[in-house]
Amino acid sequence: MAASSFFSTASKRLQGKVALITGGASGIGECTAKLFAHHGAKLIIADIQDDLGQSLCNSLGPSTATYIHCDVTDETHIKNAVDKAVKSHGKLDIMFNNAGIVDESKARILDNEKSDFERVLSINVTGVFLGMKHAARVMIPARSGSIISTASVSSRIAAAASHAYCCSKHAVLGLTRNLAVDLGQFGIRVNCLSPYACSTPLARKFVGAEEEDLEKIMNSVANLKGVTLKTEDIANAALYLASDEARYISGHNLFIDGGFTVVNPSFHMFQYPKD
Ligand SMILES: NC(=O)c1ccc[n+]([C@@H]2O[C@H](COP(=O)([O-])OP(=O)(O)OC[C@H]3O[C@@H](n4cnc5c(N)ncnc54)[C@H](O)[C@@H]3O)[C@@H](O)[C@H]2O)c1
Repeated sequence: MAASSFFSTASKRLQGKVALITGGASGIGECTAKLFAHHGAKLIIADIQDDLGQSLCNSLGPSTATYIHCDVTDETHIKNAVDKAVKSHGKLDIMFNNAGIVDESKARILDNEKSDFERVLSINVTGVFLGMKHAARVMIPARSGSIISTASVSSRIAAAASHAYCCSKHAVLGLTRNLAVDLGQFGIRVNCLSPYACSTPLARKFVGAEEEDLEKIMNSVANLKGVTLKTEDIANAALYLASDEARYISGHNLFIDGGFTVVNPSFHMFQYPKD
């Protein structure tokens, strides 16, 4: 890397890049879309919430963002979304496989239905697989690209969510690692993000709490105190992995969890007396 670009203070870190964001109409995806647009990227927003996705694109401006209805479990939808990026902008630089759902947490496996399990895996795993596959289809000939997927702290630890969700996020990590090796020879980077809980429609529904109460609950068990995880923090991590600043980062699972997954609280020896 030339010294001039190493010391660059470019404010538009994705200038000239084209990104596709699944689950881009809400929560982490919506916030990332706004940040990517601010940094100069052209966007395809893919989601099943058409009104939300369309109104986000309207607010970002038609020359910046285009909405496409895309159910990530449907290979034709994913193929069309990737092809739309190439048709509209000539290429796809960044694929953000972010769409995901969480099911009701039923602690006992005997209460878990096969159909619920398969629905979570179909969106959280098959959806990511299809996004990776079709991004690779257009990135391989270009010999470059950055594929990012949203995993979770559940990619490392157990008992933070349902069996299906935990399994699905472990699988996102597995896909990320395998694909980083498959696509490394073509200059394509593949990484995933593993956030702690932050207030989005998904998390509020899962915990059954509104924003303020959800954040209180999550902060009380967080490792890092004095700061609340926001969608902006996750979007900033996605921005890093998408940008050329991360040009040698591949096969990585980037935790945005304030150290939550590195401590076992049962053996927490660094406890200071409360003032
Ligand atoms: N919010 C958290 O605390 C948290 C923590 C860790 C990981 N995550 C992960 O972050 C990702 C984004 O979730 P979020 O919290 O922003 O939730 P969210 O519900 O706000 O956003 C998820 C988006 O995915 C879309 N979606 C759902 N099913 C889809 C499908 N079949 N096809 C296309 N789009 C679909 C939804 O319409 C929605 O717009 C998910 O993968 C989730 O598992 C969230």
